[in-house]
Formats: sequence, structure tokens, C-alpha cells
Amino acid sequence: MMSQTLRDARKYEEAMERKIDKAARPDFHLAARVGWMNDPNGFSYYKGEYHLFYQYHPYDSHWGPMHWGHAVSEDLLHWRYLPAALAPDMDYDRDGCFSGSAAVLPDGRHLLLYTGVSREAQPDGSIRDIQTQCVAVGDGMDYDKYTGSPVLTEKDLPEGGSRFDFRDPKIWQKPDGSYRCVIGNCTEQGDGRILLYSSPDGMNWKYEKILAANNQRFGRMWECPDCFVLDGKGVLLTSPQDMLPQGFEYHNGNGTLCLIGSYDEKTDTFTEEHDQSIDYGIDFYAPQTVLAPDGRRIMIGWMQNWDTCNLHTPEQLWFGQMSLPRELSVRNGRLYQKPVRELEALRGEEVRHGNVTFTDVVRLAGVEGRKVDMEVTVRPVDTENMYRKFAVRFAQDDAHQTSVSFRPYESIVKVDRKFSGSRRAIIHQRRCLVNSKDGTIKMRIILDKFSAEVFVNDGEHVLTATMYTDLAADGISFFADGAVSMDVVKYELK
Ligand code: FRU
Repeated sequence: MMSQTLRDARKYEEAMERKIDKAARPDFHLAARVGWMNDPNGFSYYKGEYHLFYQYHPYDSHWGPMHWGHAVSEDLLHWRYLPAALAPDMDYDRDGCFSGSAAVLPDGRHLLLYTGVSREAQPDGSIRDIQTQCVAVGDGMDYDKYTGSPVLTEKDLPEGGSRFDFRDPKIWQKPDGSYRCVIGNCTEQGDGRILLYSSPDGMNWKYEKILAANNQRFGRMWECPDCFVLDGKGVLLTSPQDMLPQGFEYHNGNGTLCLIGSYDEKTDTFTEEHDQSIDYGIDFYAPQTVLAPDGRRIMIGWMQNWDTCNLHTPEQLWFGQMSLPRELSVRNGRLYQKPVRELEALRGEEVRHGNVTFTDVVRLAGVEGRKVDMEVTVRPVDTENMYRKFAVRFAQDDAHQTSVSFRPYESIVKVDRKFSGSRRAIIHQRRCLVNSKDGTIKMRIILDKFSAEVFVNDGEHVLTATMYTDLAADGISFFADGAVSMDVVKYELK
């Protein structure tokens, strides 16, 4: 039986969606149907389509009691909204259905594993979130909460585990048909770790072990873990809260972390070898992956960040969008990302400019727009006397621009939205140390109205940023301090 809370949410979103101007939404990035969106949830392939759920507060463009929004797509780019899948309507999730994931059961039903939140007064008078793991089962449209929920509670925590921070289960199936999941947790002192659980059927779960621990290296609580084997390596993704910066690798605040190492499938043991950020831009958090039917590991993230996502007015009818889905690979112990190849089907006319040699500023015929897939390769004209800075400026008019620049002597790429129209004293720039040889660099830039995703050197580093510049600002120009030679291949995206 569907609860009144869910029925209300479904009615509301359907009515309100009609009031939202489609032209003001991104075209191939999933945005909130109405109200607020954060983390991607339940990213899965089910009955011939990709399903993507999301943290959702339909009634307000700011965070509130979490529902699960729902959309489906065949190509990961054109999304069709389905009715909200979960609402906070049980005792154990009355204060929110937090993040989680999905799997397909042997009988063909779709299983959702998520965090239920209920607030509880503590002996010291404070009110805290109690977090447990819950199951709902459905047909890709309607979901029933499993009567055995919650399936994991504080009783299933290892010693010293915080019951206030026990969330975001990510499930996968082993070759023998049994299930595993990783869940974010921290110690009572607030030090993040990833817990591993096992289940024969997706409903009955058992604590196994601490799969990875922070040991006070990367922020505090670790949110939204994901774990998979890719290209022969074990990969753990997580989103740490409260990070301190480390060089150009990690920035302050909520960040993203990828641990790469070896993974023993027999004993489910992860041995860490390397760490890196997942995205080096401003707006990317809480990514989750899906294994596509063709074997690709595809990741999508929330294209926002918690420190700047509350600046819009409550009158705004929707807020929040996802990143592009990205194909992952591991090469030389490092995570690489590239836009899903389905994006190529959206390409319109090709504009090519080879070997453009210039200093100062150029504009190129046919190169403009706010829905763009553009690859730029730049090299110095004289390697003995390299250019000092190169930049691509976009979403540009007389007063506005957002840019991505490269300084070959420092090997730094910077995304800068200071002139994007923002009136707030927030982070507008972020820098990242990249690899470049003799001042040569390649950048693929994807624009979809209000966002820019920059894939440097075939996805070795990625920088993502939103920009809320008026759509009329659609200029693109190139800047060089010193002489460069540049190749540009640009497609308008349909
Ligand atoms: C991450 C997160 C998750 C939680 C959800 C709540 O952005 O804080 O840990 O499940 O958002 O909306």
C-alpha cells in the first residue's frame, strides 16, 4: 500500500513540473524534477533501462526531509522522470530516506538498499539522527518497504562505531549470487571508515569487517562509499567531509577520494596502494557507479558542493543537477574518466581549426555556444621560450566569462568562474596540478548551459564547475600570453 506521504509527493511533483521552463534546465544532465536534488542513488540497469534515483526534497529548492526522486534513460543523457520512489513514511525513516543503491533480485524484482533516518533525543538533551539500513523492493516504478526493515542497525556496527553516522549502503552482487555492500561510518571520535557487509539474498545482512579506514588522513566522516574491481585493480570511492587541503590534490571542505589498490575477491580484502581526488573542480560530490551491461563502469556525481549550494532564493522552483555520466578506467594505478560515449550521438556539425598560431586573443568561426563538446590541444610555438598562460573562455559576453586556463611552467590548470555573474563571496576558482610535457596539453570541455566539465589529457584529471550565467552569454574565445599553436575540434550538442 502506498503511503499518503508518497502519494502527496507524486501529485505535487507532477503538478509543479509543468510550471518549470524547460529552457532553463540543463539538456542532458539530470536535474531535480522540482525542488531540491543531491546525491545520485540506486544507479542501476534494470529492465532494459538505466535507473537513477536521487536525494530529493520536492517541496522546496533547499534540503529537507529526504525522498527518492526517480528517472530512467536508455542513453544516460536523455532522462525521463518517473514518480518519486520513496518518501519518509515509516517510523525508521520518518526523518529521511538517505542515500543508497540498487540491485536486481534473482526473481527479477528491483531492490533498493538505503539509509533510514529517525531523530532521537539524547540524554544530554541534543537531538541526533539515528541511521539504519533499510530495504524496499519494487518493479522499477513502485516500491514496497520490506517488512523486515531496518535490516542493519547499531547492533551491526563494529566496536566504537558511531550510530549517528552509519549511512549510504552501496550494494553489488558476487559471481556466486550473494551480495555485499559497503557503508560509510566513523568512529565515535569522527574518523571515517568503510564497513563491509554480506547477504545471501539482499534482505538478511551480516557485518563482515572494516574494509578501509581513514586513520585521520582525509577529512572526517566518509560518506557515499563505492567499491568495485576495474582493470584488475580494486577501487574504493568515498566522499569525505571536513577535509583539510593537501597541496593541489585535496581541497578544504567536502571532497572526493579514490583509493586504488588490490582487491582479493575470495576474502573481500582491499589493500590500498594509491590515493587521489576524483574531481578537482568546484562542484562534484557523492559519486556512485553502475556496471553497464556492456561491462563499462560508469560513474555519476552530484554536480554541487555542500558549502555553496544554499545561496539561491527559495522562490527558485528547482535546484541541483547531476554530472555527466563518466566511463571509468584505471591506468598506471590512476583513475581516468571520460564522458560516456553516448554523448557522441548528440554531436551536431563539426567545426575544426587546425594549427591556429596566435598570441593574445582569438575567436574562431563557428566556435560558440552553451551546449558544446570541444577538444582543444595547445602547444608552444617555441619550446625554448614557452608561452606563460593559455586560456579558453566561455559563457562569455562583454561582462561575463568562465574560463579554464593552463600555465605550462607550473603545470597548473585552473577553472575560474569569478566573472560568471556570481554576487557571492564563495569559491570561484580551483586549481589542479596536471601532467604536461613541453607545454603541450589537451582539454575536452563539455558545456550544458549551466555547467562546465573539463577532461584534461584524456581524463587523467577532471574539473567540474557550475556557472549560473545568463544563456545569452554564449561566446567562446582563446587567450595566450606568449605564442601558442592550437587545434580545436568543436561540436554543438543537440
Ligand atoms: C551526502 C549525504 C549522504 C546522505 C545524504 C543526505 O551528500 O550527506 O551522506 O545520505 O547526503 O541527503
